[in-house]
Amino acid sequence: MQITRNTFVSDPWVLTKIVDRKICDSFDCGDNDLNEYFLVDAIAHEAELLTQCYYVHVVGEPRLSVALLDLCNDAIRVKKVETKDISIPGKPYSTYPAVKLTRFGVKTKYQNQNIGTKTLNIVKEMFLTDNRTGCRFITVDALNNARTIKFYQRNDFVLFTDKDREHDTRAMYFDLTWLRPS
Ligand SMILES: CC(C)(COP(=O)(O)OP(=O)(O)OC[C@H]1O[C@@H](n2cnc3c(N)ncnc32)[C@H](O)[C@@H]1OP(=O)(O)O)[C@@H](O)C(=O)NCCC(=O)NCCS
Repeated sequence: MQITRNTFVSDPWVLTKIVDRKICDSFDCGDNDLNEYFLVDAIAHEAELLTQCYYVHVVGEPRLSVALLDLCNDAIRVKKVETKDISIPGKPYSTYPAVKLTRFGVKTKYQNQNIGTKTLNIVKEMFLTDNRTGCRFITVDALNNARTIKFYQRNDFVLFTDKDREHDTRAMYFDLTWLRPS
């Protein structure tokens, strides 16, 4: 994978920061709230430094977005995750650093072609490579429907708890050390 400041290439896919927001104009992932978010709300979120928007395209086709996503910093409470292997002697941390996938959608005509999975793999690699800050987990509040939860589980995300099973979204996480060779 090639990495520059704002671009992550995993041939043939490129994940890159959105600069020209026209790329969001024709975006349709089948979820109106998400479409509206990327078209309108993401602008204010970025202006307030709350999130950063990225898009995925094929190498050499930067005008053709296939997926949009939004990321922000996060922290998760130690008690919430099964990470008994994290132990730094004398440092009883109460939270661990994470990055949150705040919004994510693949264009409807590209869904079910493994692009969502590939995008998650690029995000995982990105936060394991040449890090500026520590980041142990990727978190997501997944839409609470069977297909979406299954999609994240197939990508090795784990539910934090059963307590949110009746909520609109379910909190899930992925431990980046799971990618380390054993
Ligand atoms: C969920 C989503 C990102 C997956 O991307 P994708 O490129 O279709 O995913 P992949 O091709 O890698 O994997 C396919 C799996 O994704 C899930 N999936 C596919 N289309 C989906 C849809 N419209 N909604 C929810 N999940 C979907 C299914 O579990 C599918 O597996 P299956 O073949 O066993 O049914 C994409 O379908 C999407 O943008 N959905 C609408 C918005 C959304 O739900 N975003 C997630 C918010 S947390």
